[in-house]
Amino acid sequence: MIPTLAHTTLVLTHDGSHSLRNETTGEHYHSIFGAYTESVHVFVDAGLKSLLSPPNNIRLLEVGVGTGLNLLLAAQFAAQQNTSIVYSGLEPYPIDPEVQNMLNYGGFVGRDLFASYATSYPKLLAGECWKTPLFEANIVQKALLDFESDRAFDLIFYDAFSPSSQADMWDEASIAKVASLLAPGGVLVTYCIRGYIRRQFIALGLQAEKLAGPPGKREMMRITKPKHV
Ligand SMILES: C[S@@+](CC[C@H](N)C(=O)[O-])C[C@H]1O[C@@H](n2cnc3c(N)ncnc32)[C@H](O)[C@@H]1O
Repeated sequence: MIPTLAHTTLVLTHDGSHSLRNETTGEHYHSIFGAYTESVHVFVDAGLKSLLSPPNNIRLLEVGVGTGLNLLLAAQFAAQQNTSIVYSGLEPYPIDPEVQNMLNYGGFVGRDLFASYATSYPKLLAGECWKTPLFEANIVQKALLDFESDRAFDLIFYDAFSPSSQADMWDEASIAKVASLLAPGGVLVTYCIRGYIRRQFIALGLQAEKLAGPPGKREMMRITKPKHV
C-alpha cells in the first residue's frame, strides 16, 4: 500500500510538464517522458475520444486523482467538444493544496481553468463540487475497494501506480471491482498492459485491446464492457 504523501517531490518531465515522485517508492505519478503527453494519449485520445456518439452526460470515474491532470484534461475536453461530463475521482491520499498550486498545468490546459481548479481544490477535498459550464467534478477520499456507487460509469481512467509498486491495485479483487463499476458499453483505459491483468478482464467477459502506447511505452490497454454481459 502506498503511504501518505509526506515525501513527494516535484519533477519536470520531458515535455516540460510537471509530475510528482513518491520518494518512498521511487514511483512517478506519470511517465517521465512527458506527463501531459502521456495523459493526452492514454486518457483523452484513447479514452474520451473513443466514446462513439458520446452521451450528453458522460459519467467518468478516475481511479487515482493525484495531481488532477486527467481531471483538468477532461474539463478542457468538455469545453472544446461541447459535451457535458460528470467526473468522480477516487483518491485516498490527496496531494497537499500547496503542491497542487505549484504544478505548471496552467500552461497546458489554460491558466484560467487551472487557477479555478487549484483555488477550489481545498473545497473539493471538503466534499464540494467544482463546476465549469459543462464539467462537474467531485473527489471521493476512498480507496477503490471501499468505494460504492449506485451509478455505473461510461468511462473509467484507471491510473493506479504500477503493479511493481502497488500490486493490490491490479489483483483479482481490484479488477473485479473496477469492472463492476463500468456501464454496459463502457470503456476503461489504462497505461498498464500486463498479460495477467488483460486476462483478468477477459475472464470477466470484457474485451481487451492493445493500443500503441505513449512515448517510452510500446503499448497501452483499452477495455470495453459488452452491451449485454
Ligand atoms: C499514478 S498516480 C495518479 C496519477 C493521477 N491520475 C495524476 O494525473 O496525477 C496513482 C494515484 O492513485 C492513488 N491511489 C493509491 N491507492 C489507491 C486506491 N486504493 N484507490 C484509488 N486511488 C489510489 C495514489 O494516491 C495516486 O494519487
